[in-house]
Amino acid sequence: MNTNGMAISTRGLVKRFDEEVLAVDSIDLSIPVNTIYALLGPNGAGKTTTVSMLTTLVEPTSGQAQISGLDVVQQADKVRQRIGVTFQEIVLDPDLTGRESLDFHARLYGIGKAERLAKIDELLKLVELDEAADRRTNTYSGGMKRRLELARGLITSPEVLFLDEPTQGLDPQNRTNIWQYIRNLKADTNMTLLLTTHYMDEAEALADRVGIMDQGKIVVEGTPAELVDQMGSDNIRVVGRGNSDAFCEKVKTLSNVETVNKSNGIIQVGVDSGNRRLVEIVEMANDSGFGIEDISVSKPSLGDVFLKYTGRQLRDI
Ligand SMILES: Nc1ncnc2c1ncn2[C@@H]1O[C@H](COP(=O)(O)OP(=O)(O)OP(=O)(O)O)[C@@H](O)[C@H]1O
Ligand SMILES: [Mg+2]
Repeated sequence: MNTNGMAISTRGLVKRFDEEVLAVDSIDLSIPVNTIYALLGPNGAGKTTTVSMLTTLVEPTSGQAQISGLDVVQQADKVRQRIGVTFQEIVLDPDLTGRESLDFHARLYGIGKAERLAKIDELLKLVELDEAADRRTNTYSGGMKRRLELARGLITSPEVLFLDEPTQGLDPQNRTNIWQYIRNLKADTNMTLLLTTHYMDEAEALADRVGIMDQGKIVVEGTPAELVDQMGSDNIRVVGRGNSDAFCEKVKTLSNVETVNKSNGIIQVGVDSGNRRLVEIVEMANDSGFGIEDISVSKPSLGDVFLKYTGRQLRDI
């Protein structure tokens, strides 16, 4: 496979856990160097399994994956030297201080003493844990633990950093801080970052490209703007009773209606201007005997894109 300029590339990557569980169902990724790529999807979509294969922890059932042109199976050791990873489930030794925890990790990677000490000081400052560095990690808040994890992933100065749910369970302020570190990493280094998330605001705020993942597949991929733009400028969301198919057909005939999607009883109409078209749509419902129970106007989000491609709501899963 040609991986020129690609930090991460996969072809037909599959992971099957047993007969029934097809966790990752033939995904193709081409992620250029110095990109922030978000895999966005609900619980069980296959995000962690994908990261596990790309970081050599789980062997693919079939297909290929390369990091900076190195095969994750054939050249696993070389791949490991070029990547960093932070896990969804944080495993920190509660008896170690933040500094000791980083030191332990750096020793595992065989980093010499002088380099280790300098690097650890630098990273503790970067994630603003320098003052708490000599406290045991069992006194850290959730946000501090995440930041320590981030520092740990960076110890080897990786070319490619994998962040599995970097802000899961954090409050909004901690989340935006972590976002800022991630943005700075991309701006200050040549690093490529692949993060997984089930928060659409996170993907929207951070990612250069987003792959929406569901049931082991990447159902659609693009920049956040490309994905959202295909939904129309504004989104009118309608819930009601009666013949929704007839109603949808009529709505499609209106000028300035860009898209009409129906799933799970929710009708989404992409229009040029929600406020201007609202009245026309209500009139159309009256004409076609469709009883509106709820109608609202919003800007489309990645959640709407997810709904369009999967027929399900991202946040309800
Ligand atoms: N070691 C395993 N053995 C068997 N099945 C597994 C294993 N790991 C994951 N799975 C299954 O594979 C599917 C994908 O799981 P995965 O953890 O990759 O999803 P995810 O997108 O990371 O979900 P979450 O958002 O909950 O972290 C799920 O159906 C899960 O139950
Ligand atoms: Mg996961």
